[in-house]
Amino acid sequence: MSENELQVKKIENGTVIDHISAGKALAVLRILGITGAEDFTVSVLMNAKSKKYGKKDLVKIEKRRLTTTEVNKIALISPHATINIIENYKVIEKFNVKLPEEIVDVVKCANPTCITNSKEPVTPKFKVVEVDPIKLRCIYCNRFTTVDDIIKQFSGEEQ
Ligand code: CTP
Ligand code: ZN
Repeated sequence: MSENELQVKKIENGTVIDHISAGKALAVLRILGITGAEDFTVSVLMNAKSKKYGKKDLVKIEKRRLTTTEVNKIALISPHATINIIENYKVIEKFNVKLPEEIVDVVKCANPTCITNSKEPVTPKFKVVEVDPIKLRCIYCNRFTTVDDIIKQFSGEEQ
């Protein structure tokens, strides 16, 4: 690193979400419910150079662990993300997010007239058709639900 470079600071305890698809860091913050009103430090780096995928986003959150549900949601919008758990400045655990073959319950079908959006108690289920960017096919109406649909849902713009 030259003297003209500054790196985002290492964190002492918390979670680093690395290799987020470029441009998706804000969506990750929304999934985690982070608004800026928290009293812990959150670092966000967008469009950073990545050795593996060209560009990437990165989010570092002090004093926070992620739930399985949160990790699974991140997988939907950022299939190559890595979760690093930090304790005393060291990476004590590192894993890749993983998409299941079938997505059950977390995502809503983009088709408003789908049975899963009716009053019937039918749980939404999708097959993963494409991974990056994600494209899901509803097993009931066959309509595609895309990464943009999913980000809107996770941001609370759609109910
Ligand atoms: N990190 C951090 N604070 C620490 C330790 C690590 O913010 N105390 C960050 C690093 O800056 C990096 C990520 O956590 O963005 C993973 O750290 P590390 O495994 O050391 O880096 P790499 O080997 O480059 O990771 P990878 O192979 O997953 O790209
Ligand atoms: Zn449907």
